[in-house]
Amino acid sequence: MNVNSQSVNSNRHTKNFNNPERFIEGWYWAIPSHKLRVNQVKSLTLLGRELAIYRGKDGKAVTFDAYCPHMGAHLAEGKVEDNALRCFFHNWKFDADGSCVDVPCLGETLPIKLKTWPTAEKYGMIWIWTGKTPQQPLPFVPELADAECDAAFGARFVKNCHPNVVMINAIDAHHFNTVHNFPVDIVFERQEVNENAIIFSNTTRGGDNSLFLKLIRPFYKNAVTYSMCYWYGSTGTVTVGPDFLHFHIMFALRLLEGGKTEGQTILITQKRPGIHGWLLNRILLWLTNLVGNYFAKGDTRIFQTIKFDLKTPIKADLSILQFIQHVEKQKALAWGNWQLVMARWGDGETWREGKVREMND
Ligand code: FES
Ligand SMILES: [Fe+2]
Repeated sequence: MNVNSQSVNSNRHTKNFNNPERFIEGWYWAIPSHKLRVNQVKSLTLLGRELAIYRGKDGKAVTFDAYCPHMGAHLAEGKVEDNALRCFFHNWKFDADGSCVDVPCLGETLPIKLKTWPTAEKYGMIWIWTGKTPQQPLPFVPELADAECDAAFGARFVKNCHPNVVMINAIDAHHFNTVHNFPVDIVFERQEVNENAIIFSNTTRGGDNSLFLKLIRPFYKNAVTYSMCYWYGSTGTVTVGPDFLHFHIMFALRLLEGGKTEGQTILITQKRPGIHGWLLNRILLWLTNLVGNYFAKGDTRIFQTIKFDLKTPIKADLSILQFIQHVEKQKALAWGNWQLVMARWGDGETWREGKVREMND
């Protein structure tokens, strides 16, 4: 092997993408909203970090680092009091900002603060921002950005590979023909929404007898839209369907130990008024689940055994290279301690950039 090809190979490897020790700073799904009732506290391990999450009287979910700054008791053993949390062990109390507001045996407070994490809810899910101040909104369906939505949960799953690798399936144009029997070639257009979000979209016309098109045939006459919006390289929202009825499926993924994936499918549709609207939405969400299952089904065994290494990209893999670049550019944190790690490539063109340029030429 000559020096040149060695350097090309080392450049193929990535700093953030498919790295089991890193993840992109962002919003990640924690637990479904309905699993945390008012006055409840639960323990949670997210991206290697141990947390305690509770819901106060005001209905707001609050996330703390798990261990009490007094002696290290797990705070999920504690008790919610109004909008604060009291440690089980020696009864120190912390408000929603993490400030210690009561040390019973001293009869006064102490100037200590627990680490808290920004916490918000959307689509029936509690999400946690892994940095100090959220830099971006919660993952959302671009088409429904300003709409009120109904949501339901689909499958929850574990995959034997990294979330980044699971995510690229949705823009792997090549495999739509080989695995999912799509009758048409798919070409994606890319649109970077912000530093942490990117959309790949395609409008396919026509088509004949694939199972997927059959499934949605009753609903479409002309055009079928297919687009994927990625957030933090880890949560993807598929929008698919004919012009008058789009289905929205969010695959919310997070990294597990050893570079595996834990995912939750969220089915989303625009809120419709009245009891009829409510009923129609139940049917639509049920249909959305069928579409989501169809997407997830064909590839299951690949994600059990794949050792991702895109050694030989062809033109149909262009979107995948672009997605990898997008992930490489984002701010990465270290698994477990959530400390910032430097993730930028040095000067010069990487192997991937070269490939993208070649394909665009
Ligand atoms: S360990 Fe929490 S109050 Fe002592
Ligand atoms: Fe697939």
